[in-house]
Parts: sequence; structure tokens; C-alpha cells
Amino acid sequence: MAIQRKTAVILGAQWGDEGKGKIVDVLSERFSVVARYAGGHNAGHTVIIGGKKFVLQLIPCGVLRPGCRGVIGNGVVLDPMAFLSEVKKLREAGLAIASGRDGQLFVSNRAQVILPYHRMIELAAENAPGRTKIGTTSRGIGPAYEDKMHRSGLRVIDLLNTALLRTHIENACHEKNTIAAALFGTAPLDPKAMYEEYARAAEQIAPFVTDTAELLNEVIEKGEKVMFEGAQGALLDIDHGTYPYVTSSSSTAGGAVTGTGVGPNRIGTVIAVTKAYVTRVGEGPFPTEIHDDSATLLRARGQEYGAVTGRPRRCGWLDLPLLRYSNMINGTEWLVVTKMDVMDECAEIPVCTGYKIGGRLTETIPAEMRGFETIQPVYTKLKGWACSTEGITEFERLPKLAQEYLNFMERESGARIGMVSTGPDREQTMTMAAFDAVLA
Ligand code: GDP
Ligand code: IMO
Ligand code: MG
Repeated sequence: MAIQRKTAVILGAQWGDEGKGKIVDVLSERFSVVARYAGGHNAGHTVIIGGKKFVLQLIPCGVLRPGCRGVIGNGVVLDPMAFLSEVKKLREAGLAIASGRDGQLFVSNRAQVILPYHRMIELAAENAPGRTKIGTTSRGIGPAYEDKMHRSGLRVIDLLNTALLRTHIENACHEKNTIAAALFGTAPLDPKAMYEEYARAAEQIAPFVTDTAELLNEVIEKGEKVMFEGAQGALLDIDHGTYPYVTSSSSTAGGAVTGTGVGPNRIGTVIAVTKAYVTRVGEGPFPTEIHDDSATLLRARGQEYGAVTGRPRRCGWLDLPLLRYSNMINGTEWLVVTKMDVMDECAEIPVCTGYKIGGRLTETIPAEMRGFETIQPVYTKLKGWACSTEGITEFERLPKLAQEYLNFMERESGARIGMVSTGPDREQTMTMAAFDAVLA
């Protein structure tokens, strides 16, 4: 008999945009609370419900489900303006998004705040000569996490203290304006205007703020179910990703613990979302990147353009050594495979099963960027199914070759496939019986 799991971490297996938003939305039916644990409004999570599209950046996708509560955990960096504009958009779309004790959305009092000087520094530094260009989302994410680790950041609880907020903004603006002018020749920001704008925003955010670690632990103690929603992907993790071409947070499963204040023994299972192929936005290594017409086909069929920045996503074939590595560092138990339908027109599907580095066969993921420069993927070519899988909701009804592709993925990746997605809509999803039983 399946052991039921009360909590689950759901995260991206590679470099983000795997379809986490859609899958969190589908699964949120089974959970009381969905908590975001890392990143900020660099994330873009798309959910399509009956043809209506929502793109969530900071707010967990669970709030789209009546009765499901959303938590923005302490591991998140919160841009107050982005948060308020997202709340407004969701309310305009007809969702209640109530704040307060009996509300639907909660923000950690310990989350760090993104302020305009974080964006200023990031924009200037990204384009400065001699710096490694990461191709960030320009949302101030990196500089905000720098301040957190430097112990000079502002937390949400401090945002609500007007005296502290004023002093913090004055001091920080003095420091950041001086640095930005000296290093990059950037025009200074006005601390007075900034204080007034953020003090006003703080008043609107206050009703959402609470000790979310207490809230989550109480909910778990009561036997209710909690899902931890990851942002970005495991290979963008600050420690485990393709450094320095990463984001600045712990996007791997461990981040769910530090990013929410829930102990590791409370994590029931880890679910990683992967496309049937791979994409990446921004700079950095991508061993299986495609440079021919197949990339154009995948990009067009999969609508592979960034949900936040609109940048075309780089496309590539499934990379099993990287997927196995990702499953290892996350302790992935279940895989969710999205975008099967996007490969419907591929006559042949190469899958990377190993690498050659300097002529030697290996499965080791290089730690140094130099290692990636000479990497040659070794491919096994699988036959494409060359017919439509769009909207299929039962494994047995998939074409045989699509079933074989998924079986191959499962065998080679070391994790079981729990769900398969065959289109962007909530309904275009299949759930395997064993997975269903675990999360029942
Ligand atoms: P996230 O950041 O992981 O939530 O993913 P994004 O929302 O940034 O990107 C995933 C994109 O793929 C979105 O446009 C989704 O609507 C879409 N999508 C998700 N699953 C499927 C699928 O199975 N098939 C197709 N065609 N599109 C999908
Ligand atoms: P979701 O949650 C894809 C990438 C950026 C850049 C690098 C660092 O939608 O999967 P940052 O602004 O975080 O400092 O940028 O990380 N990146 C993402 N790529 N999906 C995301 O989020 C991403 N969030 C950041 O493109 O390469
Ligand atoms: Mg995204």
C-alpha cells in the first residue's frame, strides 16, 4: 500500500520554466497551503484555466484555487511594488486574495525586501566592462540577496517600521549611490521620494505579514497538506547550479527548508518538473543546446519565450546526466514530464545519455565552466511518435513511441514519472495511479 505524503516540494529540474506553475496549479487541489520558498519576481509561472491565462511571479499558484492558501516564505526576496501590482491584477481577475488572519495570502515577516537601488546596481553591473554577463532578469534579485548575506538587507518586518525604514533607505541610498556613481557613472536615486513611496506600500502590505514559519508548522501539525513551490530550477541554484550562470538563491529542495522554516523531517516527498526536452534563458552552459531547425520547431510549438522578459528561450534535447544529477541533489522521488505535445512533429528525438570531455566518456558534471567548453554530448536516438498527443489524459492512450520515450526517461533518470502534461491547460494532464495514491 502507498504511504501517503502530507507535504511535497515541487521544483524545476533544470534551468527554470519547466511548467511548475501549471503543475502546482493542478496539484493544489490536494493541498491546503502552497508556500513559495525562494527567488522573487524573476519567476514567471504560467497557469491556464479553461483558456484563461495567469502569470504569477511572487504569489504562489495555489491562490488560483478557492480554499487554497498561499504563503510567501522567508527565503523569497519581495519587491513591494511587484507584490502589490500582482495582488491588484489577481483581484481585477475576480479573485478575492484576502489578507488578514482568515485571509488567503501571507507574507513572511522575515523575507528580504528588494529596493530600487538593487535594480540600479544590477543594471549597471551587468553591462559593465570586464564583468561576467549572466543575462539576469534585471529585477534586482542578485543585489538583494547580496545585502541579505552581507547582513545589511531590509526585511519585511522592518519595512513596516517607518523610522527604521527611513534610516535604512537614507543609509543604503548614500552607500549605493556612491558606489554606482564611482563604478558605473549612474545618476543617484532620491532617498526621500523612495521612503515616501515605500512607506505607502508598506501600509498596504502590512495586513498580509505574519510569522509564516509558525503558520506552516501549525498547519502541518494539524495534519493539513502543504506544498512547497520552487522557483527557477535546480541548475540555477546558487550552490549546485552552473555557477556563475545561476540565480542567487537556493532553488533546490533544501531551499524549501531554510526558505520557509519547516524542518527537513517534515518534507514528505520531492517532485521535480522537467520538460520532455530542455530550455534555458540567459547566458551559461547548455551541453545539449540545438542550433538547427529543430530548435526553431520546438521554440515555435512550445511558445518558448520568457514569461517575464519575453526573451526567446534556448532549446535543447533532454540531458540525462544533468537530470540524474538534479535528481540526486534534490532527492527527487517523482518526475513530472511536461510539454510532450511539443515534440509531436519530431521524426527522431536524440537524448543525451553521457558526455565526452577531452575525448573521454564520462557522466560527471563539470564543476568548472571550462569543463563545459569542450563537452560533447553522446546521444541515443529515439524514434519520434509523429502524431498528436495534445490533450491526452491516459498513459495507455499515448502513441506507443511516446510511451517508450517516457519509459526510457524513467529508467535512465532514477525517478518515477508521476504525471505527464500534454498541453498548457489544467485539464491536459495525466496522473499515474501510484503517484495519485501517494498524494491522495
Ligand atoms: P514555470 O516557470 O516552470 O512555471 O514555467 P513557465 O510558465 O515559465 O513556462 C512554461 C510554459 O509552458 C507556459 O507557457 C505553460 O503554459 C506552458 N506549458 C506547460 N505545460 C505544457 C504542456 O504540457 N504543453 C504545452 N504545449 N505547453 C505547456
Ligand atoms: P521560473 O520560476 C528561467 C535566469 C535568468 C538568468 C539567471 C539569473 O519562471 O522558472 P536572476 O534575475 O535570477 O538574477 O537571473 O537565472 N532565471 C530564470 N530562467 N526561469 C526562471 O524562473 C528564472 N529566474 C531566473 O534568465 O539566466
Ligand atoms: Mg517561468
